[in-house]
Amino acid sequence: MSIRFLEHEKVFQIDTKNSTYQMKVDDYGFLLHLYYGRKTNGVMDYLLYHSDRGFSGNPYVVDTNRIYSMDTLPQEYPTLGTGDYRNPAMTVRNANGSFACDLRYDSYTIQKGKYSLKGLPAVYANEEEAETLIVHMMDPVTQLHVDLMYGVLAEIDIITRAAKIYHTSDDVIILDKVQTACLDFVSGEYDLINFYGRHAMERNYQRTPIGHNSLVMSSRRGMSSHQYNPMMVIAARGATEDAGSCYSMNFVYSGGFKAEAEMDQTGGTRVLLGLLDEMFAYPLNKGEEFIAPEVIMTYSGQGFSKLTQNLHECIREHICRGPYRDGNRPVLLNSWEGCYFNFNGEDIYQLAVNAKDLGMDMIVMDDGWFGIRDDDYTGLGDWNVNEEKLGETLGHLVKRVTDLGIKFGIWFEPECINEASHLYEAHPDWVLKIPGRDPIRSRYQFVLDFSRKDVVDAIFEQVCNVLDQGDISYVKWDFNRSISDAYSNMTTDQGKVLYDYVLGLYDFMERLLQRYPNLLLEGCSGGGGRFDCGILYYSPQIWCSDNTDALDRLRIQYGTSFGYPISAMGSHVSAVPNHQTGRSTPLNTRGVVAMSGTFGYELDPAKMSEEEKEEVRKQVKVFKKHSSLIHNGLYYRLTNPFEQETCAWMFVAKDQSQALVSAVFQQVHGAPLCTYVRLKGLKSGAFYKDEATGKLYPADALMEAGYPLPVEFGAFNAYQIHLTLSE
Ligand code: GLA
Repeated sequence: MSIRFLEHEKVFQIDTKNSTYQMKVDDYGFLLHLYYGRKTNGVMDYLLYHSDRGFSGNPYVVDTNRIYSMDTLPQEYPTLGTGDYRNPAMTVRNANGSFACDLRYDSYTIQKGKYSLKGLPAVYANEEEAETLIVHMMDPVTQLHVDLMYGVLAEIDIITRAAKIYHTSDDVIILDKVQTACLDFVSGEYDLINFYGRHAMERNYQRTPIGHNSLVMSSRRGMSSHQYNPMMVIAARGATEDAGSCYSMNFVYSGGFKAEAEMDQTGGTRVLLGLLDEMFAYPLNKGEEFIAPEVIMTYSGQGFSKLTQNLHECIREHICRGPYRDGNRPVLLNSWEGCYFNFNGEDIYQLAVNAKDLGMDMIVMDDGWFGIRDDDYTGLGDWNVNEEKLGETLGHLVKRVTDLGIKFGIWFEPECINEASHLYEAHPDWVLKIPGRDPIRSRYQFVLDFSRKDVVDAIFEQVCNVLDQGDISYVKWDFNRSISDAYSNMTTDQGKVLYDYVLGLYDFMERLLQRYPNLLLEGCSGGGGRFDCGILYYSPQIWCSDNTDALDRLRIQYGTSFGYPISAMGSHVSAVPNHQTGRSTPLNTRGVVAMSGTFGYELDPAKMSEEEKEEVRKQVKVFKKHSSLIHNGLYYRLTNPFEQETCAWMFVAKDQSQALVSAVFQQVHGAPLCTYVRLKGLKSGAFYKDEATGKLYPADALMEAGYPLPVEFGAFNAYQIHLTLSE
C-alpha cells in the first residue's frame, strides 16, 4: 500500500521506496501540502506555521482567527480567489465575471494501477506496479470540480500528477490558467535547474537560485520548444550529482507550458508546472471535462544521478511503448546531411548498399521525396511520392532496399504546409491564420489547423497512402516551425485552439501506431524542438538536435540526459568539417558521442576513404555489442562539460557486472597533464578489468582517485573504456 488516508488526522500519505509525500485536509476543507522528501514516518502537520501577517487575509469561515491565511499556508492546488496572492495553479472566470475559485475537499478514491488520461499521453503501469489516488475537490459556489490525480510507482520513486476539471452548473466557466502540479516547500533554499537553448543548440544547463521574485520559464510557441524544455530540477542549495535533496518535474505534454518558481514572504518556496496561460481561455459547459496534462515528479536524496536514473527508468519503461521500447534500435543511415534535397531513387539505393556493407540496419529517406520539393520553398502538404524525381515508384525502391536486408524509413512533416503546394491551393482555410492579418511565415511554411478533425483525417489518409506502398519500418515525424496565428476558423473560442491542436497531434500519432503497430516513430522538430515526454509516448526516440558537431553535442546530450533516457536521444555521426559549425573532430570522437544515443550516421559513405569505412564498421560493431548497456544501464555524468574541459560519462549494468566509460577532451594544450576521471556506481571492494588491456583496477580507487585517461597528441580525442567485473 503506497497510498493511505489517515482518517483521524485527515492526512493523505504517499510512500515510495525512498520518498514520502503528505497533504492534509484541514478543519475547513482546504487541502494543505505538508511534505515531500526523504522517506519518513509520522504526520508532518507540525510543519504548518500559523501567524498573523499583515495584509494576508483570512477566509471568512475561520471567523476571527487572524493567524489562518491561505497566503502563508502551503497549498496542494492553489487557486486565485482564496486570499493566496502567490502564483496560482488555476484561475477561472465565472459566469458573473468574477475570478474566484475556492476549492474544498469533497472525497477521495484510491485505486490499484495507474490512471490514464483520455486523449493525452501519460505514464502507464500495471496493477502491481502502481496505485492511484484521486482527491475530489469542489468549489461549492460554482460547483466546479477538480479531481486531483496522483499516480504512484513506488519502486522507482515516481509520483505523477494530473487533474480533471468539470462542473455541474448551467453556466459557462472559463479556465484562464491551468497548471498541473504545485510544490510548496515551507522551508529550505533551492535552486532551479533548467535547460534552455535555441535551434541547433538545445538544452543547455543553467542553475539559478530561487529567490524573492518569480522565476518563469515558458514556451508560447505552441510546442515545448528548443528555447526552454518542460523539464526542471529543484535542487536544495548545495545538492550535487552525488549528494543532497533534489526534485524533478517533467511535463508530459508537447505544447506551450509555463513553469514558475518563487520564494514567498515567509521564506517558503512554491514551484508550479503546467499549461501556458497565454492564448488560453478554455470555456467549460456543464458536463464537459478538461484535463490538465500530466507532470512526472521524482525525489532523490542522493543528488542528480539518482534523480536522473529514476526518470530514465520511468520514461523508458512507463512512457515509451511498442516493440522498440525494449527491442534494439536500428543503426540507421539518414540521407539529410549526405544528400539534402538532392537525390533520386538510385542514390537512396546506393546509401542502402553502403549501409549494408558497413553493418547498419536501416536507411532513412529524409526530406525531398514528395510533391515538388527540391528546396524548402515548396511541397509541404502534398504527401504524394515524386516518382519522376525518384525515377521509380516508392514500392519499387523500398523493395530493392529491403531485398538487401536493410530496413526502410521515411520522413514526413504532417503538421505543416507550404503556400506553394496543391493542398494550400485547395484548402487555404486549413491553415492557422487570423482573418484580416498576414500570417507569420517560418521556413516558408504555415501550420495546419490540427485542432480540426477533418484536417487531421485528411493528412492521416495521405500519410497512410504512402506508408501502404511498401514495407516501411520507420517514420521521422518532423515539425519545423513554431506556431503563431493560433486562430481556427472552426471555433469562436480561440483560447481552445492551441490545446486542441495538441490533442489533434496526439490523436494522429496514436492512430498511426494503431494502424502500423510495428512502426518505429522518431520525433523531430528542427532537431530537439519538441523533445518531451508527450512525444516519447508515441516515439521512443527523438532527433536530439540539428547540430551534429560532436563537441556541441556533448553539451546538448549532457543537458538532455538530466530528464530523458539515452535510448531517447537520436544521435548520428556526420561528415567533417561539420555542416553546422565548420569544426573538424576525429571520426572516433564523433562515434563515441553518437553512441550515447540511438546511434546512426548522416553522411554519404561513398565520400569516405576505405580506412574510414573500416573504422565505421568497427564503430557499428562496438555499438551493437554495448547497446543494451548503453540504453538500459544506469547512467552517470562524471563531469560537467559547461565547467570542465573533459566531458566524461559512464553506463553501469544494473548488476554492476560491467561498465562503459566515455570521455572526450574539449580542449587541447601543450605539455598536457594527465586527466583522472572519477568513476561512479562500481561495486565497492571489487576489481574491474579493462577489456582492451587486460589490466585490473580496484573499483574503490577508480571511484576515489580516478582512471587516468591516456595522454596523446591531437585535438578533441575521445576514449571509451569497457570494464568488466573481476571477482
Ligand atoms: C529538420 C530536421 C532535419 C531534416 C530537415 C529536413 O531540420 O531536424 O533533420 O530532417 O528538417 O528538412
